[in-house]
Amino acid sequence: MLSSAKPDLPVPLTDLKIQYTKIFINNEWHDSASGKKFPVINPATEEKICEVEEGDKADVDKAVQAARQAFQIGSPWRTMDASERGRLLHKLADLIERDHLLLATMETTNAGKLFASTYLMEIGSSVKTLRYCAGWADKIQGRTIPSDGDFFTYTRREPVGVCGQILPWNFPLVMLVWKIGPALSCGNTVVIKPAEQTPLTALHVASLIKEAGFPPGVVNIVPGYGPTAGAAISSHMDVDKVAFTGSTEVGKLIKEAAGKSNLKRVTLELGGKSPCIVFADADLDTAVENAHVGLFFHQGQCCVAASRLFVEESIYDEFVRRSVERAKKYVLGNPLTPGVSQGPQIDKEQYHKILDLIESGKKQGAKLECGGGPWGNKGYFIQPTVFSNVTDEMRIAKEEIFGPVQQIMKFKTLDEVIKRANNTTYGLAAGIFTKDLDKAMTVSSALQAGTVWINCYGGGGNQCPFGGYKMSGNGREMGEDGLYQYTEIKTVAMKISQKNS
Ligand code: NAI
Ligand code: MG
Repeated sequence: MLSSAKPDLPVPLTDLKIQYTKIFINNEWHDSASGKKFPVINPATEEKICEVEEGDKADVDKAVQAARQAFQIGSPWRTMDASERGRLLHKLADLIERDHLLLATMETTNAGKLFASTYLMEIGSSVKTLRYCAGWADKIQGRTIPSDGDFFTYTRREPVGVCGQILPWNFPLVMLVWKIGPALSCGNTVVIKPAEQTPLTALHVASLIKEAGFPPGVVNIVPGYGPTAGAAISSHMDVDKVAFTGSTEVGKLIKEAAGKSNLKRVTLELGGKSPCIVFADADLDTAVENAHVGLFFHQGQCCVAASRLFVEESIYDEFVRRSVERAKKYVLGNPLTPGVSQGPQIDKEQYHKILDLIESGKKQGAKLECGGGPWGNKGYFIQPTVFSNVTDEMRIAKEEIFGPVQQIMKFKTLDEVIKRANNTTYGLAAGIFTKDLDKAMTVSSALQAGTVWINCYGGGGNQCPFGGYKMSGNGREMGEDGLYQYTEIKTVAMKISQKNS
């Protein structure tokens, strides 16, 4: 895991001030139509950081109107050179770099993420995402097509229009830029709803969007709750696309709302129960460490968490022993504090969900190797937990836990492990550890997962399409394929007097 003892890690800000707490529409700050606000909590201390204006349907309507206005034919945004859209995205990236320390401190305070992780990885990765998308802005091209008949035919990749974007709390800033980067690169306008737990970095970035010089209405941010503000976006008649990251349960609601309203385009990045398969010939140190980080990174709150770990019978006992030893190394505490390597879960709801699943593991006969309960007397901390002797029908082997809880299962043969790995409604990611190329290729092509890692777990980046098979989602984000999901393709056929090859 990242250690906050890294020499280039500065001290977090000690006087973090929250400047932006309102609804951002048309490059201006608004109070909520209802007059309501909601509290934003620090999950490490359970203390209130501030209150934020609570958006609902009326505020979403206002934001959609602004986004629609900014998308009108002839508007500054629609007539802007694509290269200029790229320049604005680069400018936004510059401003995020300028505010690096503030954003890292804010993200750690609001989302319970280790400061070493927000400072050294996430802010930098968000900047890279924006620059990747900035580079694409003037390279999103159509084709000329040799169609039958006397026609000159070409395609245009046009922006979809007004995009609603609903964000999760586990990577608040990273997910914000994964949504706005591609959308703005392709020329769309957006209405964003950050997760109710973590609106703060998105609101700070709103101020940077204005400072960068994006025209009013191109980006609008409405903080609020899911069943109110979120549902108002997914059921809106004038939103052309909705992009969502979160639970499979809400993913279904969003698709249903799209179907019941205007059949808006929907892309979904949902839950997972990703298999990680370790063959006996793997480098054991590499496999133990990667499987460990693949599960425990950010307290297990990752969609790609390696939460079904299949280990070949002959190395099983040794693998479990080493995994337990590794899990016991954590220092729990406030993620702003140097030396702390595990922070809190995001909120009380997630905390109770995880503890309930841990109890089910104990009751259903898995062997609790370490951890297994809450930690400390304030904040939503859970002990790093490892279960061995886990079998496929147990709840901990089937349900997404989203916590620091590792499940280690045993397998005997290659065919068996492929079947078991695919025996899930999810299909987000998978890992394989082996030195045998043939095994690696056979298993990676057989697994139903949007991303497969071989001898690593995690990695890829902005250049790679990311998303899920089956109930882990629809569509892809990032990479060239992800960008195209923010375009409509139009065929234009022009009659000409005579075509020549
Ligand atoms: P959630 O799916 O309820 O929340 C994610 C976002 O959806 C938030 O912005 C929320 O306000 C919004 N939302 C909630 N209900 C909505 C609705 N009816 N219409 C429109 N938007 C709505 O996820 P939650 O409750 O925070 O976590 C539940 C589980 O979901 C977690 O335990 C985990 O298993 C999974 N999850 C997966 C994530 C991923 O990265 N794929 C991220 C967050 C949660
Ligand atoms: Mg929920």
